[in-house]
Amino acid sequence: MSEELNQLNAGEIQRIREQFPILETRIGKNQLIYFDNAATSQKPDAVIKSIDSYYRSLNANIHRGAHYLADKGTAAFESAREKVRDFIGAKESCEVIFTSGTTAGINMIAAGLAQSWLRKGDEILLTEMEHHANIVPWQMACERSGAEIRVIPITDDGELDLEAAEKLITEKTRVLSLMHVSNAMGTINRVQGLIQKAKAFGALTVLDCAQSVAHFRLNVQELGPDFAVFSGHKLLGPTGTGILWGRKEVLENLPPFLGGGEMIKEVRFEKTTYNELPFRLEAGTPHIAGGIGLGAAIEWLTQQDQSLLENQEKVLLQRATDIIQSQPGLRIIGTSAQKVSVVSFVSDKAHPSDIGTLLDQQGIAVRTGHHCCQPLMRRFQVPGTVRISLAFYNTLEELDSFERSLARVMGMLG
Ligand SMILES: Cc1ncc(COP(=O)(O)O)c(C=O)c1O
Repeated sequence: MSEELNQLNAGEIQRIREQFPILETRIGKNQLIYFDNAATSQKPDAVIKSIDSYYRSLNANIHRGAHYLADKGTAAFESAREKVRDFIGAKESCEVIFTSGTTAGINMIAAGLAQSWLRKGDEILLTEMEHHANIVPWQMACERSGAEIRVIPITDDGELDLEAAEKLITEKTRVLSLMHVSNAMGTINRVQGLIQKAKAFGALTVLDCAQSVAHFRLNVQELGPDFAVFSGHKLLGPTGTGILWGRKEVLENLPPFLGGGEMIKEVRFEKTTYNELPFRLEAGTPHIAGGIGLGAAIEWLTQQDQSLLENQEKVLLQRATDIIQSQPGLRIIGTSAQKVSVVSFVSDKAHPSDIGTLLDQQGIAVRTGHHCCQPLMRRFQVPGTVRISLAFYNTLEELDSFERSLARVMGMLG
């Protein structure tokens, strides 16, 4: 990219940064450098204000109240659902279920399928790079149903071994559940072919979009799974929010995970009949302010120049990769050519947590540890990694500071 264009973009990014108040934080004499975006993203003013304004002027319980505030609150919440539908390219808004996050979404699917779909001897296919949120719920489903887990291995670059995957998908496969993008390595998985093949064998397919949704636009119909899940807090939205999307015919047959108010049509002690989608899968009072905040996050994001954001992340990824590669004794875990702006590394002389602690003392927030991917860490025979995960509001200047701090830290630990 030309120097001139780079400067133009830096100006745009600066204007975006100004909308994220937390980025102003100072830690002692250092300006905060937030490189932990895969754990949770920061929130723009538009999101913070929407939550504030909900509690100031709209707060009421929704869907069942027959008064002014209840109607207004319901309209705002349902408008957020519609924004999500449009954002992920879902056919109908009744396919969009509000949850508390990715973990809740996968648990709802796994518990429902354990009851209605999985039988003894069936196979659930996962991958070696999954987050614990896409492993443990399936182990629980296996305990209940007698199904068994199979695992797609990964290559030394941190990509799915597609040849092995092809062989693992058989008529025994009843569920394929995999991540779109790896939180620990940044790998963008080529999921479409696998999803198609699993569906051809009659399996149900689940895509964990927790990490992909914040980096590029996705369309659930083009990707083709039966279910997709993500968390609002990684997408500039509030914590405690998430989305479970499913194809209508599949969701209609998913047994509810929670029973209670809102999800019923008629309750008798002998038998209860359930409500229509989406309410059937949304028992109890939802996180109303959170849902509205997530809608505001999506609205804010869709108003930005997506190519500017994606380009900024691409430039940052390249620069971050160069920094780690040029520091002696560091090794990147996850070297796929198809990655989002996440760089995980290990040192041959220092423990990841020591590196993270010393960086933190200089105001730089990174993540260290197993990133909820213990099987992946075992695959690479490392106790954990240091992970920097960059968002479009990060800058090359922040990476320059990081480079200097990292050199100092490695000098101290060497
Ligand atoms: C790929 C992936 N899946 C699932 C999760 C769990 O998300 P949450 O804790 O928001 O439910 C995460 C969180 O880091 C993740 O990165």
